Amino acid sequence: MTTLITNIKELLQVRETNVLKVSGKDMKHLPTIKNAYLLIDDDTIIGFGTMKDCINIEADTVINATGKLVLPTWCDSHTHIVYAGNREQEFVDRINGLTYADIANRGGGILNSAKKLQQTSEADLYEQSKDRLIQVMKLGTGAIEIKSGYGLTVEAELKMLRVIKRLKQDFPIKVKATLLAAHAVPKEYIDNKEGFVNLVINELIPKVADQQLAKYIDVFCEKGYFDLNDTERILKAGKLHGLIPKIHVNQFNAFGGIEIAVNNQALSVDHLEELNKNDIECLKNSETMPVALPSCSYFLSIPYTPGRRLIDAGLPLALATDYNPGSTPSGNMNFVLSTACIKMKLTPEEAINAATINGAYAMGISNMYGSITRGKKANIIITKAVPSYAFLPYAFGDNHIETVIINGQII
Ligand code: NIG
Ligand code: FE
Repeated sequence: MTTLITNIKELLQVRETNVLKVSGKDMKHLPTIKNAYLLIDDDTIIGFGTMKDCINIEADTVINATGKLVLPTWCDSHTHIVYAGNREQEFVDRINGLTYADIANRGGGILNSAKKLQQTSEADLYEQSKDRLIQVMKLGTGAIEIKSGYGLTVEAELKMLRVIKRLKQDFPIKVKATLLAAHAVPKEYIDNKEGFVNLVINELIPKVADQQLAKYIDVFCEKGYFDLNDTERILKAGKLHGLIPKIHVNQFNAFGGIEIAVNNQALSVDHLEELNKNDIECLKNSETMPVALPSCSYFLSIPYTPGRRLIDAGLPLALATDYNPGSTPSGNMNFVLSTACIKMKLTPEEAINAATINGAYAMGISNMYGSITRGKKANIIITKAVPSYAFLPYAFGDNHIETVIINGQII
């Protein structure tokens, strides 16, 4: 089945050659074709060009995109969308003066979500998570990473990962699973963190690897959670079982986690609201993608990742939502795009590169996703009629998307 999209006002993120990520000054450049067409065969992009070269192209379906933009779907490389229940009471508590740390210290936060998840059946967890996945697909996300981490027991972690696997089988969106093995120290291990880390290393990681339930290994490397030694041990154990590091680091404190991640060839380092010079130097000598999560900063009122500093240092940057019940109850990549421009001072070109090709890189899939390139998956956003692509982040909070095509299927 072929689909031809014609009269596209501007086709964005067109890459003739298969670029895997863009860094530094190159992020300012967003290659586009004005008055364009795009040709899809089943689930694959097979052609594009200007309308003057669109003569004699026939297709089973033709979509006229006069006045509209076409771009690759968003690649959201950091989410926790498999969770049970919500935490709006903690949100209200924070409005009334408690901090994220206060809430965690009294047994709320991640432990609160873990308790709910442990008590939720696998079928119910699937239903709740499925709704979120459909919601983000409609908002233009065509590839997503989903983490475990609200289980905190071997069984509950496996349950989460099985739900992720089912979502992957049931929906056209590309899903990559991450074992967030060490997200918080469970209550029973409060005086025996090492015991929990040993459980992760000796039981959880081998089981997840055996059952092929995850591709990546994550740790919340943070004061009060897991220290450098825990992080190093878990990443090394994951690597021994073929899992690639991709970690939560520098959210509240910068104390060397990035160096450990880079030394362990992490695919990405995520959060980075706090960054020091050494962190930037480490990243310069690596293939690791820094990932910013601006809607988390927005929701928690914490600093924004210094994206300008990273890009101006010649580094790449990806943007993701961090969709989770505690720090970011939103999976809207369109809002992330606006927030990155408004609060992090990324240009629209940089933000779109960060939310597409670089997001795909942070999931290890940029050879098939993240740009309009022949042979890549037909994951496409068609906007409503808009004046220009800068309008997308500019007119924030509105939905500018008219049609989403994922794996060649209209959502
Ligand atoms: O990425 N930082 C650690 N984990 C999540 C939040 C977890 C929660 O509060 O439930 C995050 O922000
Ligand atoms: Fe997260």
